[in-house]
Amino acid sequence: MSDKAVLTIGDKAYDLPILKGTTGPDVVDVRKLYGETEMFTYDPAFTSTASCESKITYIDGDAGVLLHRGYPIEQLADQSSFLEVCYLLLNGELPKGDALADFQTTITRHTMLHAQFDRFFEGFRRDAHPMAVMTGAVGALSAFYADAIQVDDPVQRKISAHRLIAKMPTIAARAFKYSIGQPFVSPRNNLSYSENFLRMCFAVPAEDYVVNPVLARAMDKIFILHADHEQNASTSTVRLAGSSGANPFACIAAGIACLWGPSHGGANQEALEMLEEIGSVENIPAYVQGVKDRKYKLMGFGHRVYKNFDPRAKVMQKTCYEVLEQLGVKDPLLQVAMELEKVALSDPYFIDRKLYPNIDFYSGITLRAMGFPTNMFTVLFALARTSGWISQWKEMFEDPTRKIGRPRQLYLGATQRDYIPVDKRG
Ligand code: CMC
Repeated sequence: MSDKAVLTIGDKAYDLPILKGTTGPDVVDVRKLYGETEMFTYDPAFTSTASCESKITYIDGDAGVLLHRGYPIEQLADQSSFLEVCYLLLNGELPKGDALADFQTTITRHTMLHAQFDRFFEGFRRDAHPMAVMTGAVGALSAFYADAIQVDDPVQRKISAHRLIAKMPTIAARAFKYSIGQPFVSPRNNLSYSENFLRMCFAVPAEDYVVNPVLARAMDKIFILHADHEQNASTSTVRLAGSSGANPFACIAAGIACLWGPSHGGANQEALEMLEEIGSVENIPAYVQGVKDRKYKLMGFGHRVYKNFDPRAKVMQKTCYEVLEQLGVKDPLLQVAMELEKVALSDPYFIDRKLYPNIDFYSGITLRAMGFPTNMFTVLFALARTSGWISQWKEMFEDPTRKIGRPRQLYLGATQRDYIPVDKRG
């Protein structure tokens, strides 16, 4: 195939270079288009636009493939740990020798929050959504680590990345504890990342807390499954915020705000609430009819990129069974979810639109069984995705061609007109 595309406008032809990735679709490079033609490209939801070069995550939506630095998500979920995946995303290679142990030690040493930070939580109403608390609290980290403002210093960028990965569980657990009126539990350095998080969420001073290893492994897997997902809405938000040189805590807070939306990370809460609303298997046909009548969407279904299956959903479903079995939970919503999946996957409405369960379809049932209330689901997503966001942010800074992001528009408003004083407006 030629290494250029030709665009014809009127009687003029313009050559546009075609750039090749290591795998996946090639891209038509339109960077010089405006300079040469005075025309923009139009792609409102970026369905055909590659916004950056990246070496972190690759998705083949038709084949249901998700690779981090080349490694399939199924292998990482089965054989790796969340902190190893964080290392991989940040550094590009799996750790060798003592590198993982050193990384774990570094993360462990950054898990505490400044004592004054705890007072920050008290400013929120007890019934605040924990995602509101997360957005505010993570942004507030910038006020505690002024050095992070030196974004052009690679050492500061690295320290900020470590601080974020280390402190997210502590902040998330505090947001949870605050909402239920329990005292904060401090991090413990002898526990793994996921064990420590479960303890900070569920331990109380009145009794000892023993971490269930099956649940800790499930938590770790859930974090791995959510760690990164290429240039989705929240990651693009982090990159765009960071393109101006904003500090990483502010950028991740922007990502958290974007993730909160029901079309993105908020879908896990909405998916469980939907299953609760359906309530039992006999109500499924009427609910599915409502989806077809476009009264509402089937939450936990569909994806902008996956049009065959979401590989994360398969691992998530297996994890869901493991957790329910370990806890001896017989959740009737699992029955509803399985039947709903069966009905939807055999219905032409969903088949024609290539709608399959996404990661959020089974994560809610799993997290509920583990003891998390629905409003914490998106918080857990944000905790895990912080590793991807900060890796993408770091990659952007390491790109010598970095420029501030500045999309343009197709203007459809009024053309220039003169101001009319209020008493003369008809
Ligand atoms: N239920 C019913 N119909 C749907 C759904 C759904 N969940 N998702 C898409 N459709 C229909 C949509 O109405 C449209 O139909 P038509 O062509 O007749 O107008 C068609 O499928 C194509 O939809 P689209 O809106 O062009 O698809 P999109 O790629 O813009 O949207 C999505 C992707 C994830 C926003 C959407 O599928 C959705 O809202 N799903 C429910 C929310 C959800 O589960 N989100 C979590 C995504 S995975 C976690 C994450 O990455 O954050």
